[in-house]
Amino acid sequence: MCGIVGYVGNEQAGPILLDGLSRLEYRGYDSAGVAVYSQRDQRLSVHKAKGRLQVLSDMLQGGAAVDGTIGVGHTRWATHGAPSDINSHPQVSRSGRIAVVHNGIIENYAELKAFLQDQGVPFTSETDTEVVAQLIEYFCETDKVGILEAVGRSLRRIQGAYALGIICADEPDQIIAVRKDSPLILGYGNGCNFLASDVTAIIRHTREVGYMDDGEVAVLTKDGIQCYNHLMQPVEKEISHVDWEVDAAEKGGYEHFMFKEIMEQPEAMRRAIFPRIRDGEVFLEDFALTEDYLRSVHKLYIVACGSSYHVGMIGKYNLERILRIPVEVSLASEFRYMDPIVDDKTLVIVISQSGETLDTMAALREAKRLGATILSIVNVVGSSIARESDQVLYTWAGPEIAVATTKAYSTQLAVLNLLGLYLARLLGTMPEEEYHSVLEEMLLLPAKMEEILSDKDDIQYYASQYFNHNSVFFIGRNVDYALGLEGSLKLKEISYIHSEAYASGELKHGTISLIEEGTLVVALGTYAKLFEKAMSNIVEVKARGGDVLALTTRTHGEEMRKTANGVITIPETHPLLLPSLGVVPLQLFAYYVALMRGCDIDKPRNLAKSVTVE
Ligand code: M6R
Repeated sequence: MCGIVGYVGNEQAGPILLDGLSRLEYRGYDSAGVAVYSQRDQRLSVHKAKGRLQVLSDMLQGGAAVDGTIGVGHTRWATHGAPSDINSHPQVSRSGRIAVVHNGIIENYAELKAFLQDQGVPFTSETDTEVVAQLIEYFCETDKVGILEAVGRSLRRIQGAYALGIICADEPDQIIAVRKDSPLILGYGNGCNFLASDVTAIIRHTREVGYMDDGEVAVLTKDGIQCYNHLMQPVEKEISHVDWEVDAAEKGGYEHFMFKEIMEQPEAMRRAIFPRIRDGEVFLEDFALTEDYLRSVHKLYIVACGSSYHVGMIGKYNLERILRIPVEVSLASEFRYMDPIVDDKTLVIVISQSGETLDTMAALREAKRLGATILSIVNVVGSSIARESDQVLYTWAGPEIAVATTKAYSTQLAVLNLLGLYLARLLGTMPEEEYHSVLEEMLLLPAKMEEILSDKDDIQYYASQYFNHNSVFFIGRNVDYALGLEGSLKLKEISYIHSEAYASGELKHGTISLIEEGTLVVALGTYAKLFEKAMSNIVEVKARGGDVLALTTRTHGEEMRKTANGVITIPETHPLLLPSLGVVPLQLFAYYVALMRGCDIDKPRNLAKSVTVE
């Protein structure tokens, strides 16, 4: 999705903006642009280009070709109007004196555009964003007000979700930032200040950040940042310190972020798990939900999108098993349109890496409206979902840059399992011995992941055998089915191979008609209780000519080899934790297949890291 960066200070803004934008590339975009005000020339210069940021950077000689110490930059992911130089941001007002970068969507742009056109304002782009720039200028001119007042008047007219960065040649020492339903972060520097939609864009320059709240407006000058609430009353912002290292968001010698993040999983798991197991018990930091409340909960409802939803699917199997209360799982994009049965006895668990996914955010708000308590499992500290939840459990995975999630998925799953165990202990629904043995096994997960990661050759070999296939099916039962959903998504999103996951028992209800000579079926059979069933499904597939690549535990590897064409094994662990290990070979398989197909692994086509539009 779109990215915003802004800088005001004493240094040349061009290189800083381009560097910031390069750190937002991972979010997905189709064009980029900057607007910089030159004190020397006393004018705003705007430069935009469709395509990779490199095109813009070459055009501007890495930023050296633009003069000025204040500016805003943007990477665009087209919503209104196709990717093109003209539709790229910054969008400018008709005089060229106001430039706007925008993430999100202005829902009533057509109505506002018609109004402005009636006033004689000409438009040059198809974007909703141009309306904002033109509207601000309209108020400056007709109401004879300054830029801040004109922004305030415009905000009363526009509807939708937006993060805005605005500069104006008439008041050229300030950037105005606005946030509503789209993240925006203020960066506090020394003699300079920053604006960004994602902390990775500015972490090289400052670690002191403020998270803008919905409805807030900020005025950034090189000497300070003043924030206002939606009534334009001054507010004090809390400043947070970002404590992860700059190189956590860099490739560090790896060819791809995705591979780096796969390899980082054991460490990420240690961060997510180890501090939360103390003296043989689950310990959840700053946990404010009371025991009385938790005992009163009748139902858990998990809402999330994509891979985070797949974590929720595993959660359904695991939590129902150990808690014996109903656990519903819903795609966040469906939740608010399905009239969900949620009340004050429902604990809604929201899972999100970015903490900014718009569908998930909307589901959270709907659940809140219905009276539920919200517990979120989030990676990005200070993100919108984290801040709007009653309780947050951070995954501590560190910055995840590759579009395809890996370490965030693993840590989400670990945290969800820990939460389940915490509740099971509280509610007394799990035998004590089993509770302790799962915790012991959880502590061993990072080392077992390391074993899988140090023995990747088999997986790479199978990828070389199958990378040319055009269609793949993942099958499994119970947690293996939920795991298959993730394995399938991983493969399709980065390799562009058509891939579907099915509950094995469903094969015979339709899908088996697609199995023919050479069709690749990835059969997941890690769950010992259902191993024989997994074997039967493999036989069914093979009888129709399918090629089976199976995943199972070491205990069952030999047995599996008698039937499947290829077998990948994982170490044994407690059944609740099998997907935590099983996902690693599936991530690696997808990675190697995509590599062999020459795909753009970290930035797959049409995808964005954080989906902030509906
Ligand atoms: O940031 P979130 O966890 O809310 O994102 C949800 C999905 O967009 C995300 O998991 C997506 O499916 C990933 N690309 C999968 O690798």
